[in-house]
Amino acid sequence: MRDSGIEPNEFTFVAILTACIRILDLQLGLQVHAMIIKLGVLEDSVFVSNALMGLYGKCGCFLFVLKLFDEMLHRDIASWNTVISCMVSEFMYDKAFELFRDMQRNDGLRVDHFTVSTLLTACTGSASIMKGKEVHAHAIKVGLEANLSVNNALIGFYTNCGGGVKDVTALFERMPIRDMITWTEVITAYMDFGLVELAVEVFDKMPERNSFSYNALLTGLCRNGQGSRTLELFIKMVEEGVDLTEFTLTSVLSACGLLMDRKISEQIHGFILKIGFGSNACIEAALLDMCTKCGKMADAEKIFRRWSFDQDTSVIWTSMICGYARNGQPDEAISLFNISQSEGTMVVDEVASTSVLGLCGNIGYHNMGKQIHCHALKSGFLSDLMVGNALLTMYSKCWNMDDAIKIFNNMPTHNTVSWNGLLAGHLFHRQGDEALALWSKMKKIGTKPDNVTFVLTISAYRHTNFNLVDDCRSLFSSLKSVYDIEPSSDHYASLVGVLGYWGLLEEAEEIINTMPFEPHASVWRALLDSCRIHSNTTVGKRVAKRILALEPKDPSTYILVSNLYSASGRWHCSEMVRENMRDMGFRKLPGRSWIIFQNKIHFFLRKR
Ligand SMILES: *[C@@H]1O[C@H](CO)[C@@H](O)[C@H](O)[C@H]1NC(C)=O
Ligand SMILES: *[C@@H]1O[C@H](CO)[C@@H](O)[C@H](O)[C@H]1NC(C)=O
Ligand SMILES: *[C@@H]1O[C@H](CO)[C@@H](O)[C@H](O)[C@H]1NC(C)=O
Ligand SMILES: *[C@@H]1O[C@H](CO)[C@@H](O)[C@H](O)[C@H]1NC(C)=O
Repeated sequence: MRDSGIEPNEFTFVAILTACIRILDLQLGLQVHAMIIKLGVLEDSVFVSNALMGLYGKCGCFLFVLKLFDEMLHRDIASWNTVISCMVSEFMYDKAFELFRDMQRNDGLRVDHFTVSTLLTACTGSASIMKGKEVHAHAIKVGLEANLSVNNALIGFYTNCGGGVKDVTALFERMPIRDMITWTEVITAYMDFGLVELAVEVFDKMPERNSFSYNALLTGLCRNGQGSRTLELFIKMVEEGVDLTEFTLTSVLSACGLLMDRKISEQIHGFILKIGFGSNACIEAALLDMCTKCGKMADAEKIFRRWSFDQDTSVIWTSMICGYARNGQPDEAISLFNISQSEGTMVVDEVASTSVLGLCGNIGYHNMGKQIHCHALKSGFLSDLMVGNALLTMYSKCWNMDDAIKIFNNMPTHNTVSWNGLLAGHLFHRQGDEALALWSKMKKIGTKPDNVTFVLTISAYRHTNFNLVDDCRSLFSSLKSVYDIEPSSDHYASLVGVLGYWGLLEEAEEIINTMPFEPHASVWRALLDSCRIHSNTTVGKRVAKRILALEPKDPSTYILVSNLYSASGRWHCSEMVRENMRDMGFRKLPGRSWIIFQNKIHFFLRKR
């Protein structure tokens, strides 16, 4: 066109710039921009300026966008939408809101559905609940209440930004029109809130389903720990010929990891190779992780050694390290971590540090944990809630309560997991009074305790300086009356442990006998352990019988009974129980233990 001497006009430029945006050709775009300036088109065409801003925005040149925008004489709603959405994609949320205010002040333009959706993305990104509610109110004011894309964006905002499930449900029920995105978002929302049954109900009610909705349900089931249901749905998807994506397969692989079933994992592994997804980095990484979880370390090592992708190296190193730790190979775990640090193959990000810190806590590797702490400090993700929780657990497991408490106090926010982590730390160190003081503080601040909090707090009464059994009883009864938590076997076991510890064996036994459901063996075991503490074989024998009736094949009961006899000075009985066990074909597996001292790992066999 240029060669034949035809002058381009503003329509030509908009068209050619749109093409540049599609193929992200910044170089050509810059040449076109130069020509536009030469021909003086820019001054009087809003469309050309908008197209240029669109191109620069997509290419990440936000300074160009702002400059062009500032120089514009006339702006329309698309100009404002372009500049605001560019700021949002650059994570400059404050600037986006500032522009929004300018827009209302200067040009008096009415926001459209695009502006509202973009602003809601900014609210979600900056976790500004109040601003999001303002945007919602504004949308209603300008008559966008019934707009489909606005409502879809609102569901996303209320799901990801501290809204409650009530907000999502109310929005969903009020929507006059819904599309596939709406239904799928609601399924994802319910799954995020852990409301699996509600999500399944919504899925069943969908007028039509596509691969997205199936995948939303599948990943949701998997993230909520429902391994077998994930697999069932997957089989249904294969039978119905639903498109299988990378997401589908990675979810199914994690579901196998949850089930820890070798057989199923082998079948899925074979299936994935057969349909030819085997050479995709995400899927290979998920395969490796599944192998480590199903105890197939040799297969995991094979995938690890022949890893040829540039991406995801951190992920597979983390999987391998945690796999070794999980499968009782801490020396391999630590040496791999060491190699990764000296070779720089592993970027220790939030997720990797959380996993490796868990490992450090479990094997008491304080120095490695400290290294990661320094790393987190330098990389600036110490304020990440998950990293904070992992650090605090690591320190408390490594017998360093001082640093655990310091981490807790320096965390910008706490959730129930943080409080539980510190409570568990105090319990681990048998600091009952400290744990109870923490519990009072938690109540004062108003953090909502969960069922685990109560297991920990009740157990704390075992390690107090004075007998506070009365307080413990009333805490236990407040569980249902105040906090609406149905006591589980774990709660009963904690209470029984406390009563037993303070010598109230009769009361403890009575409580078990009057439990509203069949007690788990752990409750009886708590009482058996109390009998050992008080060398009371009368009650002990009775209790042992109950446990053996519940779990005749569990060797740990025999060990407890044997310990009960040894503690009461009746060595021959203790020996007899062990003989009895040997006759029944139990072998007491020696526990392998290790400590790290002066940078060396020392192994020893541990007797219970
Ligand atoms: C509502 O949203 C749709 C897109 O979902 C859009 O095409 C439409 O123009 C919007 N309606 C109004 C009144 O803004
Ligand atoms: C890592 O290995 C080097 C030798 O290769 C050793 O000097 C160092 O102590 C090890 N570090 C850790 C944290 O184990
Ligand atoms: C706490 O509740 C969750 C879900 O309601 C349950 O899976 C878990 O086992 C409970 N834990 C204890 C210690 O009762
Ligand atoms: C064991 O405890 C029960 C109940 O408290 C008590 O009646 C009994 O005397 C105790 N027996 C021994 C040997 O201490």
